[in-house]
Amino acid sequence: MSISNLLRKKSANAIVQEGGDGEPHSGLNKVLTVRDLTFFGIAAIIGGGTFSAIGNACFSGGPAVVILYIMCAIACGFTAMCYAEFASRVPVSGSAYTYAYVSFGELFAWIIGWALIMEYSIGNIYIAFSWSGYFTNLIEIFNIHIPEWLTINYKSAQDAFLANNGDEGLMAWQNAPVLGGLKIIFDLPAVVINLLITYLVYRGTKESKNFSNIMVYIKLAIIALVIIVGAFYIDIDNWTPFMPNGFSGVMGGVSAVFFAYIGFDAVSTLAEESKNPQRDLPKGMIYSLVICTAVFIVLALVITGMVSYELLGVSDPLAEIFALKGVKWMLFIVSIAAVVAMTSVLLVFQMGQPRIWMTMSRDGLMPKRFSSIHTKYKTPGFATIVTGLVVGIPIFFTDENFVLDFTSIGTLFAFVLVCGGVLMLSPQSESELAERATKGKFRIPYINSKYIFPLMVILGTVLINIYVPTFFTSVLDLSYGKMATNLPMIVFLVVCVVMAVLSFIKNLSLIPLLGLVSCCYLLTGMAVSNWIWFGIWLVIGLIFYFVYGYKNSKLNLSK
Ligand code: ALA
Repeated sequence: MSISNLLRKKSANAIVQEGGDGEPHSGLNKVLTVRDLTFFGIAAIIGGGTFSAIGNACFSGGPAVVILYIMCAIACGFTAMCYAEFASRVPVSGSAYTYAYVSFGELFAWIIGWALIMEYSIGNIYIAFSWSGYFTNLIEIFNIHIPEWLTINYKSAQDAFLANNGDEGLMAWQNAPVLGGLKIIFDLPAVVINLLITYLVYRGTKESKNFSNIMVYIKLAIIALVIIVGAFYIDIDNWTPFMPNGFSGVMGGVSAVFFAYIGFDAVSTLAEESKNPQRDLPKGMIYSLVICTAVFIVLALVITGMVSYELLGVSDPLAEIFALKGVKWMLFIVSIAAVVAMTSVLLVFQMGQPRIWMTMSRDGLMPKRFSSIHTKYKTPGFATIVTGLVVGIPIFFTDENFVLDFTSIGTLFAFVLVCGGVLMLSPQSESELAERATKGKFRIPYINSKYIFPLMVILGTVLINIYVPTFFTSVLDLSYGKMATNLPMIVFLVVCVVMAVLSFIKNLSLIPLLGLVSCCYLLTGMAVSNWIWFGIWLVIGLIFYFVYGYKNSKLNLSK
């Protein structure tokens, strides 16, 4: 095993060729248009982050959370352009995994594929929990009550018991039946929605697409209603103080806010089901991101304007604001919208995961069955069922905060590698560029970062020194208790300096460079425990790779 073997690459052309002629690709239905792809993007983006996680982000950052929404939009915008560049060059399913195979080689591709499990499957666990919360509220309106021990996960109930917190968790813990000494507590609606979604995705893309489009219309209409009705209740005094917990409070919401944006990249897993992926995938990603950014910023302003940010630290903040204002009819509408929105997110992610595994399996990095296509439904059936299990089983053992953080750190990590990957791509010849232009294929605009980026770094340093003079000295404090928060920031500062030097020497393209740096910055907001769990996850992935993937890789066998 040599380093060059671990970094062996697939050429973009070879991948596209496989996509056109190879056996497995031809099995999928090419039905999706640019409108469908944009809708898929919106379906994936507006969900648990918008209806649930936004509450804790506002609680932590106050009205200034809007700044975090803008920062995440910028990072995701640059990343979306990088995804779009790749999608235009390598239009097959597999998303960032395939892109890393082309730019960094097999080992990094595996690592990204492994990190994407956190985005797609683990992310769906959070959404299934949030779905269950709003669903339970909704049926309560009709006087249907599910016992608490069937609407909460074990860990949350146990935590509530230990903290002697007089809420549902405590009731669940106290009233749960006991079997063989073990309390039976699990989130039944979350389990059931996962089963239903898995079944729907297993049945086929066209059915799923129709379902998804309808849900997007409904959720956009209802969010517009929330904004319009909410606007009448805005009291601008609630926007002061704007940043009650300082900038660290704003950054405390980074997992939650970033989670809200995840999803535009899921569009890239549908390359093989798109009619014209090289032209339409980039459009679908970028349109959906722009629409959702506008929605988030307005929504964050409305909810922090309606009530004090201190009242928003709940799991159903959009329902809470109307409850606090006594607008009962909106409670019902918001609950329906939340259930609909989250169903569509679950659907898109549950479609994305099997398609990534399918691609990895074709490369020999996952067992062959993961790329088998169902003869009747034309979907990756086996991989879909495994996805259902990977989402469904942890629902019994984990809690929502853990999966939220885990998803965000894994996804940001994948984004960093995608942006880095674009910087590594070999430049295309004039004729290739001309061909792309005539066929309307997306191309990331090249802006030379040679002087711009180093100047940005110098200017940033000067401004920080003027406005936060203690910043650099406090960041260098690596004493026990400070190291955990300061170390990621030091790594970030080193990345900035290294990239400034590289941009000067290599004339790097500015847009992917800014994508990489902005995603690295968001990573500095992650808690230490996230880094530890993420590290463990990566180590497990590497063991899998060396035990199975490395030996079975098609590139290995073809030698
Ligand atoms: N952005 C998606 C959501 O908020 C993951 O549910």
